[in-house]
Amino acid sequence: MEISRVGVVGLGTMGAGIAQVCLQAGLEVIGREVELELGEAARGRIDHYLGRSVEKGRLTAEEKDAALDRLHLVTGLAELGGCQLVIEAVFEDLEVKQETFAALEHTVAPDAILATNTSALSVTQIAEATQSPERVVGLHFFNPAPVLPLVEVIRTAHTSNGVFDAAYAFVERIGKEPVACNDTPGFIVNRILIPLLNDCVRVLDEARVAPEDVDRAMRFGANWPIGPCALIDLIGVDVHVHASEALHSALGEDRMAPPPRLLEMQAAGHLGRKTGQGFYSY
Ligand SMILES: NC(=O)c1ccc[n+]([C@@H]2O[C@H](COP(=O)([O-])OP(=O)(O)OC[C@H]3O[C@@H](n4cnc5c(N)ncnc54)[C@H](O)[C@@H]3O)[C@@H](O)[C@H]2O)c1
Repeated sequence: MEISRVGVVGLGTMGAGIAQVCLQAGLEVIGREVELELGEAARGRIDHYLGRSVEKGRLTAEEKDAALDRLHLVTGLAELGGCQLVIEAVFEDLEVKQETFAALEHTVAPDAILATNTSALSVTQIAEATQSPERVVGLHFFNPAPVLPLVEVIRTAHTSNGVFDAAYAFVERIGKEPVACNDTPGFIVNRILIPLLNDCVRVLDEARVAPEDVDRAMRFGANWPIGPCALIDLIGVDVHVHASEALHSALGEDRMAPPPRLLEMQAAGHLGRKTGQGFYSY
């Protein structure tokens, strides 16, 4: 099946980024937000980022306009009927995602693929809210989606081979790097990165060192391109804490639990770059 029209449900940080990637790959995108104003705001962000690509000479003004013309904003799930693939990027809540998938399966064609961008929920549990779990996969993009190449392509025990292969080929087609993986907590990257970042934060107190020094140590000693504290500021303390709690409840290992320092930062509203204050001031 040729995928030429993609639905993106939820045009928040991830959904807008995923929509932008699909638009730049020449696809028609039906973007669904709960209110039209939220959809318009997402279009504005995509316009802004594409504009920066034009300034840098990576895109022509005509290509930018054509990409934006391929974006159609809707508020109802029923309007996603003509999509061969729908990527869900709504709020990270199992019930909300299950309701979305249960509604989507009656909207799209029987052979359309349904994908979730969940970071830490079970793709299997989301798929089981539908009567056709064989057409559900995970497509886990990373933030910012237009910049980071990786997409984890997640297979559950129900996913059909045809659906998995088509989802994998789709990721290649949009110019990203697919990595196949099974539906296990945290998939690959978060399973490794979340406890590792938590260890780095614990070292701050155990070794009585400053965030700058942990960051410099990992950059200059382990050749990381960015230090762990700066990375948590970029991810968002709230997003990282939420993912840590999900992994901890799924796997029960102490290292998965968010360190007290991060919980204090979250309570104080020091969420990183997005609030202007995290381990660093912005
Ligand atoms: N932010 C990240 O770093 C990141 C990375 C990879 C994956 N994800 C995953 O992507 C998904 C979206 O995350 P985000 O960071 O873009 O969130 P966001 O807060 O920026 O956007 C959330 C979206 O959900 C919609 N929404 C909220 N409540 C809803 C409801 N009750 N019904 C339907 N839609 C509702 C909002 O309108 C918005 O479009 C989550 O599953 C998250 O785990 C996030």
